[in-house]
Amino acid sequence: MVRIGIIGLGNMGRSHSRNIFAGKIPNGKLAAVCDNDPKKLEWLKEMGHEEVKTFTDAEEMYKSGEIDLVLIAVPHYFHPPLAILAFSYGLNVLSEKPAGAYAKQVREMNEASEKTDKVFGLMFNQRTNPVYRKLRQLIQNGELGKIKRITWIITDWYRTQVYHDSGAWRSMWKTEGGGLLINQCPHQIDLWQWLFGMPKRIKAFAGFGKYRNIEVEDEVTAYMEYENGAIGTFISSTTEAPGTNRLEIACEMGNLIIENNEITFKRMTVPEPEFNANATIGFQTPDVWECKIPPLRGAENSQHVGILNNVIDAIEKGTPLLAKGTEGINGVKIANAIHLSAWTDKWVDLDTMDEDEYYNMLQEKIKNSTYVKNLNEQVNDTTGTY
Ligand SMILES: NC(=O)c1ccc[n+]([C@@H]2O[C@H](COP(=O)([O-])OP(=O)(O)OC[C@H]3O[C@@H](n4cnc5c(N)ncnc54)[C@H](O)[C@@H]3O)[C@@H](O)[C@H]2O)c1
Repeated sequence: MVRIGIIGLGNMGRSHSRNIFAGKIPNGKLAAVCDNDPKKLEWLKEMGHEEVKTFTDAEEMYKSGEIDLVLIAVPHYFHPPLAILAFSYGLNVLSEKPAGAYAKQVREMNEASEKTDKVFGLMFNQRTNPVYRKLRQLIQNGELGKIKRITWIITDWYRTQVYHDSGAWRSMWKTEGGGLLINQCPHQIDLWQWLFGMPKRIKAFAGFGKYRNIEVEDEVTAYMEYENGAIGTFISSTTEAPGTNRLEIACEMGNLIIENNEITFKRMTVPEPEFNANATIGFQTPDVWECKIPPLRGAENSQHVGILNNVIDAIEKGTPLLAKGTEGINGVKIANAIHLSAWTDKWVDLDTMDEDEYYNMLQEKIKNSTYVKNLNEQVNDTTGTY
């Protein structure tokens, strides 16, 4: 049994605890929990789980010898320092998404992880979705041919003002480090880089507190270019209802769309360049078959439970990780580049992006903030579908 210690008994910490208590993690047990707000720890009593050791200081939990794996479920800024400290105590780490708020701190976390032989995973639960896993397989097997254009409209992360007012740390530069890019969209940004790789450069536009009383972004449009000429547009919002989640890929073999968790491939019988080379009529169009592609066979959409079980299997049996911790820097770099481009109205090249420049600009935002939070402490459960 892998002994799990959770840090942060808020929405996600409680959700992970419930999964463990419900027996969904057969080779893991909840050995300890840490929250720096002692009131949060009372929840364990309410759940009838007084056997779980409690701590108000993470380092005390790390030192206690009670745990093998720490699951970090606190606000984003704390993910890297708590992971680095955990590695120094020889613990395995599973951190909630995002890997961190800015690339410079995530890089330090990755460097610390590389000095240990411990397992380091990230809670990118949407990587378990058999639909995206199938798409990844199709891309890797060359079924799509060269990708020309990727468009992801992901606007079904609707959040009301109550959500932003529900936690002292939410939606402020100082305590969250960003808005939808760092809270809701890390899943899609991670899937984007996992499926298509890293873009070369980004030009982005964002609305900061455009429709909500927040200081971070609630609307983003990012245009990305790839080394091989492919382009991408990532459009997101947390204030549009009803929202859309539509990923469309224009490729040499046709047009692939994921919407409503279904893959539709409008597949041409020959690759478009070949069709064009042989065409004899100006307005001729290729024959197209509309195919419904089933999700990855045998794969379960196991989400958070799947990632936690996978990390436990990695500790016990060396099973490859579905979401390696060190890969988290890619999504953070994309999110940081989008901020930087929107702030400066300039292109940002991902390879040469200045992580210090980003960090310094973020500190300026924090220093110059005039935002006043209207905290609503009555609301303490904001977990939606992630
Ligand atoms: N994977 C997902 O689907 C998913 C979903 C929701 C949230 N998250 C992530 O989980 C993290 C937490 O989000 P949440 O909604 O649970 O927040 P939350 O505010 O509900 O809970 C955070 C908890 O951490 C505690 N805490 C804060 N700093 C601490 C510290 N230094 N040491 C110990 N405890 C500390 C707080 O007291 C609070 O109980 C975020 O990074 C968020 O992005 C992931």
